[in-house]
Amino acid sequence: MRHNNIPIHSKNDFENMRLAGSLAALVLDSLYEKIVPGISTQEINDICHEIIVKNNAIPAPLNYKGFPKSVCTSVNHVVCHGIPSEKKILSEGDIVNVDVTVILNGWYGDSSRMFVAGKTNKKNFDLLKITYESLLIGIKEAKPGNHIGDIGSKIQKLAESNGYSVVRDFCGHGIGKEFHTPPSVLHFGEPGEGPKLEPGMFLTIEPMINLGGWQTKILNDGWTAVTKDKSLSAQFEHTIGITDQGNEIFTLSKNNTAFPINDV
Ligand code: MF3
Ligand code: CO
Ligand code: CO
Repeated sequence: MRHNNIPIHSKNDFENMRLAGSLAALVLDSLYEKIVPGISTQEINDICHEIIVKNNAIPAPLNYKGFPKSVCTSVNHVVCHGIPSEKKILSEGDIVNVDVTVILNGWYGDSSRMFVAGKTNKKNFDLLKITYESLLIGIKEAKPGNHIGDIGSKIQKLAESNGYSVVRDFCGHGIGKEFHTPPSVLHFGEPGEGPKLEPGMFLTIEPMINLGGWQTKILNDGWTAVTKDKSLSAQFEHTIGITDQGNEIFTLSKNNTAFPINDV
């Protein structure tokens, strides 16, 4: 069933999303000890790929519209869609977003988190913290009767009041048996804007927050999105389902390590 072209899912579908979301979380949970200075983003890709296929799932990014790898790895000023590479070796203090999407029994679970190679400085760490808080504050707004714009406006307010900017060129999305469906979940805007939320909608919320300006550009590889001013960018992503009461987060960490353990 669809409403305004937005898929509405049944109670049974929630169980499928729990399984897909849990696997995406498990993959991310496994990375904390592994992401240290000296690791390449290709190695991060291979660790994720192996866990995904071992669990009878498919890495959704691989060959998606020609994307060549199994996860996205976005380092420092890369906003999103970074392509894992043997040549990209992490240095002490680098921050990296790993974006994992699995297809399990035909259902998509999509989640990303930030990791730090070694220790980073306070300025970078604060960006990660506010970006994570902006995801949580957005999720709080995701409930029946609210609109998509309620999510984005809260995220934008928190980011901008801390002196950061919100990326405009990429957004969250509907998800379920397809990777990307309506609605577009903007991470900025005004309360009351956009489609109304209803129980049974499955969404991702995935704010990208920059230390400098919000403008981005795509590199010649056709994928890698970077900040135009080369300022640092951070992102966290959860997949959620709208329930009668509020929402359920399908991609929660199993051991509550959704945030980098290594701080300043
Ligand atoms: N996982 C990303 C998202 O949050 C999409 C990655 S598409 C890819 O929507 F092709 F770059 F992998
Ligand atoms: Co994602
Ligand atoms: Co997504």
